[in-house]
Amino acid sequence: MGICLRSFSKLSTCYILLIFLLSCFSFTSTEAYDALDPSGNITIKWDLIQWTPDGYVAVITMFNFQQYRHIQAPGWTLGWTWAKKEVIWSAMGSQATEQGDCSKFKGAVPHCCKKDPTIVDLLPGTPYNQQIANCCKGGVITSWAQDPDNAVSSFQLSVGQAGTTNKTVRVPRNFTLKAPGPGYTCGPAKVGKPTQFYTKDGRRKTQAMMTWNVTCTYSQFLAQKTPSCCVSLSSFYNDTIVPCPTCTCGCQNNGTQQGNCVHPDAPHLESVVQAHGKNNYAPLVQCTSHMCPIRIHWHVKLNYKDYWRVKVTITNFNYRMNYSEWNLVVQHPNFDNLTQLFSFNYKSLTPYQAINDTAMLWGVKFFNDFLSQAGPLGNVQSELIFRKDSSTFTFEKGWAFPRRIYFNGDNCVMPPPDAYPYLPNASSRSELSLVTLVLTLLLYVTFFSATV
Ligand SMILES: *[C@@H]1O[C@H](CO)[C@@H](O)[C@H](O)[C@H]1NC(C)=O
Ligand SMILES: *[C@@H]1O[C@H](CO)[C@@H](O)[C@H](O)[C@H]1NC(C)=O
Ligand SMILES: *[C@@H]1O[C@H](CO)[C@@H](O)[C@H](O)[C@H]1NC(C)=O
Ligand SMILES: *[C@@H]1O[C@H](CO)[C@@H](O)[C@H](O)[C@H]1NC(C)=O
Ligand SMILES: *[C@@H]1O[C@H](CO)[C@@H](O)[C@H](O)[C@H]1NC(C)=O
Ligand SMILES: *[C@@H]1O[C@H](CO)[C@@H](O)[C@H](O)[C@H]1NC(C)=O
Ligand SMILES: *[C@@H]1O[C@H](CO)[C@@H](O)[C@H](O)[C@H]1NC(C)=O
Ligand SMILES: *[C@@H]1O[C@H](CO)[C@@H](O)[C@H](O)[C@H]1NC(C)=O
Ligand SMILES: *[C@@H]1O[C@H](CO)[C@@H](O)[C@H](O)[C@H]1NC(C)=O
Ligand SMILES: *[C@@H]1O[C@H](CO)[C@@H](O)[C@H](O)[C@H]1NC(C)=O
Repeated sequence: MGICLRSFSKLSTCYILLIFLLSCFSFTSTEAYDALDPSGNITIKWDLIQWTPDGYVAVITMFNFQQYRHIQAPGWTLGWTWAKKEVIWSAMGSQATEQGDCSKFKGAVPHCCKKDPTIVDLLPGTPYNQQIANCCKGGVITSWAQDPDNAVSSFQLSVGQAGTTNKTVRVPRNFTLKAPGPGYTCGPAKVGKPTQFYTKDGRRKTQAMMTWNVTCTYSQFLAQKTPSCCVSLSSFYNDTIVPCPTCTCGCQNNGTQQGNCVHPDAPHLESVVQAHGKNNYAPLVQCTSHMCPIRIHWHVKLNYKDYWRVKVTITNFNYRMNYSEWNLVVQHPNFDNLTQLFSFNYKSLTPYQAINDTAMLWGVKFFNDFLSQAGPLGNVQSELIFRKDSSTFTFEKGWAFPRRIYFNGDNCVMPPPDAYPYLPNASSRSELSLVTLVLTLLLYVTFFSATV
């Protein structure tokens, strides 16, 4: 610590290294733990609201408690394994994707007889008599910070051949949540205090017969092994544009294979994109050196006496995806003095109360909340003005660049810290002494143990 603080330039070197180490660790971590949203989870609550002759009626509600990770089209699918011989007689606001073998039923036939049913949301426009509150949004759920009113999804099931008292009912096992791909891990169902419901006028209270919760958490590592976005940097004080690292999300084929990227000036671009299938959600990207579907560009634009200004541009290189309700999470030490922000929404995220260095940014409804597929309209931008804090502010050593950026909850790959644009004549590039390195590691350990 002492050496880190002794000289200013050493301090920023330490800082950049620290951040670099942190991002390395968080990126390779296999744990379903996100340092910027430590308690983020999706909770699935089962309320048994009524016993039936052979089972129960349950209202199942999914709460997306994640600050910035939403579920986009084509939406969630939820599966589990029944503990006994349960069947689903009927469903409201959702449906099982497969009925399964109901051949032993005479007369009334259940909606689903599978041991391991898979449930999906219904689409918007479903007839009213098949809906319940918070259903029928095609499985799309917004994030908690962006739109808490729509961060909930519900459906109702009538379950048969189940228990009919809280002693004979068995909770389902092995919950799986896909959103729509892999990434979530769900814990076991935990029986708890029955939920209490209030009537609209608040004058009467009812309660569920029985309630249990399942908690699912996300891990980028489980979701996909390759990154999905990258960051490029530039500044007014240096002509160099530092591009996304080459091959961040894949490498361009050099003719031997075909079809893992598209040149924007290719003839019949339209048909190439179409030919890859409409319901295929694997990205089909424009050919670039980084091959990422999304690039975030951070440009340090202007220097005023007391303020400085940044321009952020998000570019979509994916021909197969319109990102609606996209969001960005950016970490930079000057966010505690953000003075003005143009054309994006802002919310500060402070997982560790004392540190206000992380911002969540998202588009303004009907203006730029829709990031169109690759092409001339496929970008959105904003400018940010920060107030300088004379004790920390500097253009040296890449301080003006973000420490970490997420797009839709995925960690974006940054250029290596030693490639950042630097001030002309900051020629004395710091020598990385072994001592600095060791101290940085120590700092890292201290930081981490302080936050866990
Ligand atoms: C899930 O998120 C909610 C809201 O942030 C939190 O209260 C709850 O403790 C979390 N559950 C778990 C198991 O982390
Ligand atoms: C079942 O219901 C009884 C009373 O009706 C209650 O005392 C008991 O705690 C409940 N058990 C569970 C597992 O919910
Ligand atoms: C649930 O998953 C565990 C571990 O994957 C497996 O051992 C078990 O057999 C599964 N249970 C059921 C009922 O499918
Ligand atoms: C289930 O989760 C919801 C939402 O977080 C919470 O309000 C409720 O108290 C939890 N119930 C149980 C039984 O854990
Ligand atoms: C092109 O192919 C050669 C030989 O397979 C390989 O060494 C090289 O890395 C490839 N270049 C790119 C950009 O993929
Ligand atoms: C994206 O949105 C535009 C305009 O709404 C639409 O024409 C296009 O088909 C959409 N593309 C994809 C891949 O969904
Ligand atoms: C963080 O700083 C920004 C800019 O000064 C301010 O708008 C925001 O309210 C702060 N957040 C918290 C939680 O203090
Ligand atoms: C920057 O923000 C911090 C924390 O909110 C505050 O203490 C400090 O005075 C601010 N600095 C300036 C120059 O506004
Ligand atoms: C701009 O930054 C790059 C590092 O990205 C450096 O190589 C170059 O010398 C800098 N230009 C000037 C004029 O200092
Ligand atoms: C750096 O500054 C020294 C003197 O301070 C000057 O001689 C040299 O030309 C400068 N180098 C560049 C690249 O500006």
